[in-house]
Amino acid sequence: MKKLKIGVIGLGGIANFHIEGILASGDAEVWSLCDCNAKALLAKGGELNVPASRRYTNHLDMLKDPELDAVTIGTPNSNHFAIAYDAIKLNKPFALEKPIAMNAEEAAVLKRELEANPLPHMVCFSYRYKSAVRYAKKLIELGSLGTINHVYSQYLQSWGIREDIPLVWRFRKELSGSGALGDLGSHILDLTRILVGETVRVVADAGTIVKERDLPGAEGKGEVDVDDFCHVLSRFESGASASMSISRFAYGRGNYQQLEIYGTKGALVYNLEEEDTIHVKLGEEREFRRVDIPVEFRAGQMQSFFNLLNEKGDGLDATIEDGYINQLTIDRIIQSFTDERWVTVEQEAEHG
Ligand SMILES: NC(=O)c1ccc[n+]([C@@H]2O[C@H](COP(=O)([O-])OP(=O)(O)OC[C@H]3O[C@@H](n4cnc5c(N)ncnc54)[C@H](O)[C@@H]3O)[C@@H](O)[C@H]2O)c1
Repeated sequence: MKKLKIGVIGLGGIANFHIEGILASGDAEVWSLCDCNAKALLAKGGELNVPASRRYTNHLDMLKDPELDAVTIGTPNSNHFAIAYDAIKLNKPFALEKPIAMNAEEAAVLKRELEANPLPHMVCFSYRYKSAVRYAKKLIELGSLGTINHVYSQYLQSWGIREDIPLVWRFRKELSGSGALGDLGSHILDLTRILVGETVRVVADAGTIVKERDLPGAEGKGEVDVDDFCHVLSRFESGASASMSISRFAYGRGNYQQLEIYGTKGALVYNLEEEDTIHVKLGEEREFRRVDIPVEFRAGQMQSFFNLLNEKGDGLDATIEDGYINQLTIDRIIQSFTDERWVTVEQEAEHG
């Protein structure tokens, strides 16, 4: 079968993951590259042997290529809306990084545009592809946990503690929308939603620990105006009560992600550090036991994108609708910690 010609937009950290997935698949090839930073473009173009004619500093020029089958969008959050919007207008399927936009209004526009002009697309909620998450979803759907009462989740990193890290885009609201919440919390909100359902109200506390950082490539310091940590209490539509702890300041933690889900008949613990494993206690079992996840639950994000493009998707990929609900919940959490009160998450309110 003909290989899918994939264009990679944004050539930073996450692009390496996108490119790895393309190179590992027999179904796709890195066709073209785009980055507004000419140095990054030159380096990646050379490394991957992409001809100069298919290296772009402007995404629109890339999207106009009639041979291009689809793109991955891995730029800072502030560019997601414009690039995804142009991809829709130019009929190019896309895999878009999370959070999908800067706010729910932008996200709603993308959703409406795709409703009017449906295209294969995916939102890169990467942890949906963990076998443990897929297995947990199956257990819950089978009713093995009974009615879910509680979800306790954590997503903890420590890199923010380093005060020598400059004021990169992740610390600036105008480029990121929010801090740890959008960066890490977006993943947890998506995971708990696919496992337990819709969140209907939230109350949150958030803060900034290091308030100023060096300006990158310039003299002086600039303000960090996003959250370094965010702690949320929430209720699901089902009535289940949840807590979510998100931080870039959790000493010693690299990429620590854990969900504990407690039902009336069983419980499960998923921890990202324990690949392809989950801990469960079901029914009358005396203790939590480790379950090695059967291989059929394994999946890869990029291969799933190519399957989707080849009309062989398994229906478990995140859509723009999922991205919109995620963004709306993020906005309501921001509203909650700004106003210091409970806030309702009402999807209908955003539909135009
Ligand atoms: N799914 C995941 O697990 C995961 C993990 C890391 C990052 N991300 C997401 O990926 C995105 C990028 O994060 P990153 O860590 O790779 O950032 P990064 O800063 O390492 O890289 C971003 C790249 O985009 C380029 N860029 C900026 N504006 C551009 C434009 N208009 N057109 C083309 N290129 C442009 C920059 O020059 C840079 O090379 C973010 O939205 C982030 O939330 C997702």
